[in-house]
Parts: sequence; structure tokens; C-alpha cells
Amino acid sequence: TQKTITVLPGDGIGPEVTTAAIEVLERIAQKFHHKFSFQEGYIGGSAIDAKGEPLPEETKEMSAKSDGILLGAVGGPDWDHLPGAKRPEKGLLEIRKSLDLYANLRPVKAYSSLVGASPLKREKVEEVDFLIVRELTGGLYFGEPRKREEVNGEEQAVDTLVYKKSEIRRIVKRAFEAAQLRKGKVVSVDKANVLESSRLWRETVDECKTDYSNVELDHMLVDNAAMQLISQPDAFDVIVTENMFGDILSDEASMLTGSLGLLPSASLGATGVGLYEPVHGSAPDIAGKNLANPLAAIASSAMMLKYGFQLEKEAARVEEAIEKVLGDGYRTADIAQDSTGVVTTTEMTEAVIKALE
Ligand code: NAI
Ligand code: MG
Repeated sequence: TQKTITVLPGDGIGPEVTTAAIEVLERIAQKFHHKFSFQEGYIGGSAIDAKGEPLPEETKEMSAKSDGILLGAVGGPDWDHLPGAKRPEKGLLEIRKSLDLYANLRPVKAYSSLVGASPLKREKVEEVDFLIVRELTGGLYFGEPRKREEVNGEEQAVDTLVYKKSEIRRIVKRAFEAAQLRKGKVVSVDKANVLESSRLWRETVDECKTDYSNVELDHMLVDNAAMQLISQPDAFDVIVTENMFGDILSDEASMLTGSLGLLPSASLGATGVGLYEPVHGSAPDIAGKNLANPLAAIASSAMMLKYGFQLEKEAARVEEAIEKVLGDGYRTADIAQDSTGVVTTTEMTEAVIKALE
């Protein structure tokens, strides 16, 4: 397999963790006789500094022409004074929009050697291994009209929650397909007892289900889902939901395992060019010090192999290597119980590469 990968390191620890991911991908290419070539572009604050805007045209073009995008993180105190339209985060929103990345996939998995870091009891999190599939380009965050107005002498605000059936169908199909690669269980989360958009959501999910007879489907109201994520997190396999519910539930879920530096994500679209990035931000407090945990970025590159390139064996190899180094006790500072034996970004990366063998 021959692939061109766009790397957008971004800001803060972004360059450190994407470098780690590239090294892992290069080793995988070597081992499995693939050819991956890497091209680097600007995004976020570093793009503002170099090119005057958070998503330069050349970044957009090279991204669209590649087979997958590996992103670090954007933002930091150097750019916090800028107005909204010129901020680093704008680069991220724009690239998602320009590639129509409507499906955000966030796996949440407990590593048994680390469950002590969870705020929940060990036996609750030990078996946690699920995937949240969040709709990313529709719903309340994008609906029109959105406005402030005065009605009967009082100020009010309006946001609009709209979903087209086709928008629901394409995200739900993604979830069913993902479930087929996993344990075959989908929970669709909505608020169908109250919201019309949720009733259309639920109907559409049921219609799509007929094409996936080997997948089990349940519907769950979002308030109940928020509770179940804490009381029975190990009961889930794939959760599919609309934009705002997914935003909230995925942040809730990211706390379950107690290790932000381990969580990857993928944003997939209609074009086949996916964007893969760690869930964490640019961590300006530790940037440039070789302290960042590279595992979330490395796990993101495994998602690129799996969901972007359909290289499931290779992806599994990377995931196993991550489990191995954690099982062997390798810890960057963010996941260490105490300060003994803490490894750097580069040492952790070397350990993963060694574990690939
Ligand atoms: P953050 O995720 O960057 O950091 C939160 C805490 O976790 C910090 O103490 C940090 O040192 C630690 N941390 C995060 N990732 C780590 C890693 N890989 N290894 C070790 N420790 C890690 O979130 P924060 O502090 O709220 O935001 C910092 C900047 O990042 C802001 O400018 C924010 O806008 C941006 N950000 C960007 C995101 C993105 O690019 N997708 C997502 C979230 C925040
Ligand atoms: Mg959020």
C-alpha cells in the first residue's frame, strides 16, 4: 500500500507528539512493506505566525490531496489575545469543514495497568472499551437562524437544531460499520421523548438497522446515557449520537480512564481523507520539554491505519505495542504514580517502536 500522509504538527506539544507518531508509522511501513510518504503543513498558531492565518490555502490543498491527515494540537497563550475569527482553533474548525468531516470517532479504552488513575472504582473501569461516534457538522452548533432579538421588550436568544435525514443516515451507517469491526453492539443516544429532531434520528436509525442484521441496537435517552456511562461504562460497545450530545458525552467519557494523554480521535468525511488527532490540547505548560505523552498521537496514527487505510492488522500491532509498554511500566509524567522511573517523550516512543517487533 502506498499512502501520502499530511502532518500538521500545530502548536505546543503538537510537534513532539506528531514526530513520535511518524516514527511509529515509518516502522510499520518498513515491517509490512508499505510506502508512506509524509508532507508537513502549517496550522493553528504556528500558521498565524508563519503565514498570517490559522489555515493557509496551501495547507488546505495539500490536505485535500493526501490520503490522511495527522494533527498535533493547536492553540496556546501566545494567541489568546486574538479575536475569534483569527484564532488558532479556527484552523481546526475550517479544515473539518473544508473536508466535510462529519463523523468524529473517539475510542475510550481502559488499560488494565492504569485503571488506578480513574476516578471510578477499579472493577467498573477495567473492562471499559467503547467507541463514541459523534455527528460533527450538523445540529445545534450549525443551525440557522441563530440570533439575539427583542420580543415584547425583552431580549432573547435563538439557536436552531436541524438535522436532515441524509445527515443522520450517513453518521449512523458509520456507527453500524464500526460496530461490525468491534463487538457488534450499537447504542443510539437521543432525546426522542422531547425533541422532534431526535424522533427523526430514532426513526432513521431503525431504518438503517435493517442493513446490519448482525448488529444489535438499543436506543437510550441522553440523560440516562450520561448516568450509564458512570454506572456501567463496560456495557457499551459503540455509541452514536448527534453533535451536542456527543460533545458532552465524549468529554464525560474521556475522564473515565483517567488518562487524557492516551486518547485518540478520528474525524471522517465523505471524501475519504480523514483527520486523526489526539483528544488532548497543546499543553503549553510542558511544551518543548520532551515530557509529553506521545501515546494519544500514536494511537491516533493507529486509527488512521484502521479507519483510513483499512490496514487492520497493522493498526492492531500498534495498539498491542501501546498496551505492552504500559504493561511493562513505562510512564510519562502525566500517567506516573510517583516520580520514579518516569520516561520522556522520546523514550516512550522508542519503547513503542521496540514493542512493535
Ligand atoms: P490540554 O489538553 O492542552 O492540557 C490539559 C492538561 O493536560 C495540562 O496540564 C497538560 O500538560 C496535560 N496534558 C495534555 N496532553 C498531554 C500529553 N500528551 N502528555 C502529558 N500531559 C498532557 O488542555 P488545555 O490546557 O485546556 O488547553 C491548552 C491549549 O490547547 C489551549 O490553547 C486550548 O485551546 C488548546 N486545545 C486544543 C485542542 C486541539 O487542538 N484539538 C483541544 C483542547 C485544547
Ligand atoms: Mg468538547
